[in-house]
Amino acid sequence: MKKKTDNRVVIFDTTLRDGEQCPGASMGLREKLEVARQLARLKVDIIEAGFPIASPGDFEAVRAVSEQVKGPIIAGLARCLEKDIVRAAEAVEPAGSRGRIHVFLATSAIHRQYKLRKAKEEIVKQAAVGVAMARKYVEDVQFSPEDASRTEPEFLAEVCRAAIDAGATTINIPDTVGYAVPEEFGALIGYLHEHVQGIHEVTVHVHCHNDLGLAVANSLAAVKNGARGIECTINGLGERAGNCSLEEVVMAMRTRHDFYDLSTGIKTREIFRASRLVSQLTGMVVQRNKAIVGANAFAHESGIHQDGMLKERSTYEIMQPEDVGISGTELVLGKHSGRHAFSNHLHKLGFRLSTEELAKAYDAFIELADKKKTIYDDDLVAIVQQQMTEAPPIYTLQYLHVSTGSDTVPTATVRLQRNEELMQDAACGDGPVDAALKTIDRICNLQGRLLDFTLQAITSGKDALGEVSIRVDFGDQIVNGKASSTDIVEAGARAYVNCINRYLADHMDAEPAVPSAKPKRKAGSKKK
Ligand code: KIV
Ligand code: ZN
Repeated sequence: MKKKTDNRVVIFDTTLRDGEQCPGASMGLREKLEVARQLARLKVDIIEAGFPIASPGDFEAVRAVSEQVKGPIIAGLARCLEKDIVRAAEAVEPAGSRGRIHVFLATSAIHRQYKLRKAKEEIVKQAAVGVAMARKYVEDVQFSPEDASRTEPEFLAEVCRAAIDAGATTINIPDTVGYAVPEEFGALIGYLHEHVQGIHEVTVHVHCHNDLGLAVANSLAAVKNGARGIECTINGLGERAGNCSLEEVVMAMRTRHDFYDLSTGIKTREIFRASRLVSQLTGMVVQRNKAIVGANAFAHESGIHQDGMLKERSTYEIMQPEDVGISGTELVLGKHSGRHAFSNHLHKLGFRLSTEELAKAYDAFIELADKKKTIYDDDLVAIVQQQMTEAPPIYTLQYLHVSTGSDTVPTATVRLQRNEELMQDAACGDGPVDAALKTIDRICNLQGRLLDFTLQAITSGKDALGEVSIRVDFGDQIVNGKASSTDIVEAGARAYVNCINRYLADHMDAEPAVPSAKPKRKAGSKKK
């Protein structure tokens, strides 16, 4: 078998397209742009920014990313249909020569029979016509035979060849339903390299889903067999069980360079920041024991391990936390640190803030330094990301007081500011968080239904920053929000105000009619 000799693997990030298809992980335009900018800092090769025909929001996002994000290639997804291709071409047009159209068409027997009701010959023809049409708009056309891993290999080879003949520059082999296993998937990639004429002239990608927890293993097996592009997402976000996780697959190739002899262009020190940002914006919490970016990924608990680490790090550490941008144990600044030191330190951490953003972040830092003795890099990252991702401050929390206890009816008093106006109210609830959220509802004349409330400690210690992630249903829209504070009720209240601001920002034109959308928030049964 003639294998690819170039040992550079292209990283195609689809967090904004397949990742966003993850239930509950949808993002607005501002959030997508933030993520795309971080992906550019991470130096991914290609950003799949969305599926432009799917909705006006998707179209706008692909177009805005194409206009504003410099560096990576920007791809827009399209079925092999004229209306999709025209829309995708329009969306990626501002990216100029960095614009890519990614066309797909299902090829497996099960999809042909039940979904498309098309014979093999029709599929081959539609794939070729789709690719050729896309080539009229852009030079860079990617073709994906959907459900490739469950397609008869000979037929898959035939479709790939037709797509290459029609002008595809990248062929992507998806394991759409996460059915493949590593040896089999690797062999399929090897088979295509042997049986598809012209395949050595294009880049072969793989796109693996994680239904059996094998997306990373399958992608690695594929690059061992000649693939030179991996499609993946930050935190492995994606449809159902998600996609191949970018951080895992990149760090596997880097850490086991001795075995793979492959490299990527990824700036791995940006990985942790990308992970936190995506988690923050989607409200999808990263599990503590998640490889590479989970809170426990570099934590050594057992005495034997700690002893070994003190003697020689490599006894129990195959990667260093700094390699992926984790520096949580570094004590940085205190409450007497001035603006200059603060700004210098943020610069070192890679943040480039405007004067206004810096002023806001500094105020938040001073407020935190008043409550928390030791401030770590992770605390600073949380503060800054919160500033950068906060929705426009229509309402801001000015004051919160809760009274609670085992024999007390939990009661909250809240003061919010909107423009120059200060609004105050009080309410009781099933717990202090419920009371605070009910009071905020009363002031804003909105009633969101709390779907999810997750609390995570950002750093260690009793005075650690607690980060609250919530999901709120406002009846016509579900909104995610996060906030951090040393006080978890305050973090919950701030996250909730953030959700309200985000909701109102999206419905600005509809104001003041907005308050009429009033589904009742479910009274929590437990005290939070
Ligand atoms: O999983 C899949 O098959 C896809 C294609 C559109 C590439 O996401
Ligand atoms: Zn997919």
